[in-house]
Amino acid sequence: MNRKPLVAGNWKMNGVAASLAELELIAARAGNLPAVEIALCPPATLVAAAAARAAGSALRIGGQDCHAKASGAHTGDLSAEMRADAGASLVIVGHSERRADHGEGDAAVAAKAAAAHRAGLTAIICVGETEAERDQGQTLDIIGRQLAGSLPAGTTAANSVIAYEPVWAIGTGRTPTEAEIVEVHGFIRARLAAQLGADVAAGLRLLYGGSVKPSNAGTILKLADVDGALVGGASLKADDFWPIAAAAGSAGPGLSGP
Ligand code: 13P
Repeated sequence: MNRKPLVAGNWKMNGVAASLAELELIAARAGNLPAVEIALCPPATLVAAAAARAAGSALRIGGQDCHAKASGAHTGDLSAEMRADAGASLVIVGHSERRADHGEGDAAVAAKAAAAHRAGLTAIICVGETEAERDQGQTLDIIGRQLAGSLPAGTTAANSVIAYEPVWAIGTGRTPTEAEIVEVHGFIRARLAAQLGADVAAGLRLLYGGSVKPSNAGTILKLADVDGALVGGASLKADDFWPIAAAAGSAGPGLSGP
């Protein structure tokens, strides 16, 4: 099963209209890496403008969250359909910052992923343990529980991507060891096979996220069962993000699949 690597940038609550100049630099070059799917997820205020700037390029635009419902009395929220209407083709759901800041549990994440599917968006479904959970040896239990609860019925390799983001590695400059990443990604692949069937699991892309930068991307992206990266801070500047995307284009066995 050939899994095309995906390198997605999550701008989080960063970026104003002027920041689209960085996005435009990526859009202009995205076609130079046909073996890699490249995406940027700016804040909601910029999605429509970002989609306009990326039009005709290979750069995909995404949102960072969506409501489970298509419309209704939910002040301040945005639906998956609205994301699609603004020009997004994917959306991140279940990011640990949403889980922590907004109390989103696995069931809410599954409902959001189902909404993404309903709207024709690719859902990037995030899982990851906290530092305390890792210290207590609970990493695989936590990831297993999150996978069991956060993936809606109808999850396929075409409509979903799984991102493993250890909470303690996000924005800290710390990353798991190569062996730790391989262990968790291998565990996720096996769990997905049990949950969704071997064929779906073999096709689903598994991204690593947490302090990915140009200096470590080459090492991380070549690991077994790592099919790309979800990048926070280093996605804000084209000069940082582009080398990470390029590293995915030249990575080895982990990207060619089983
Ligand atoms: P950093 O790359 O800034 O650690 O953030 C990772 C992340 O949370 C991406 O969603």
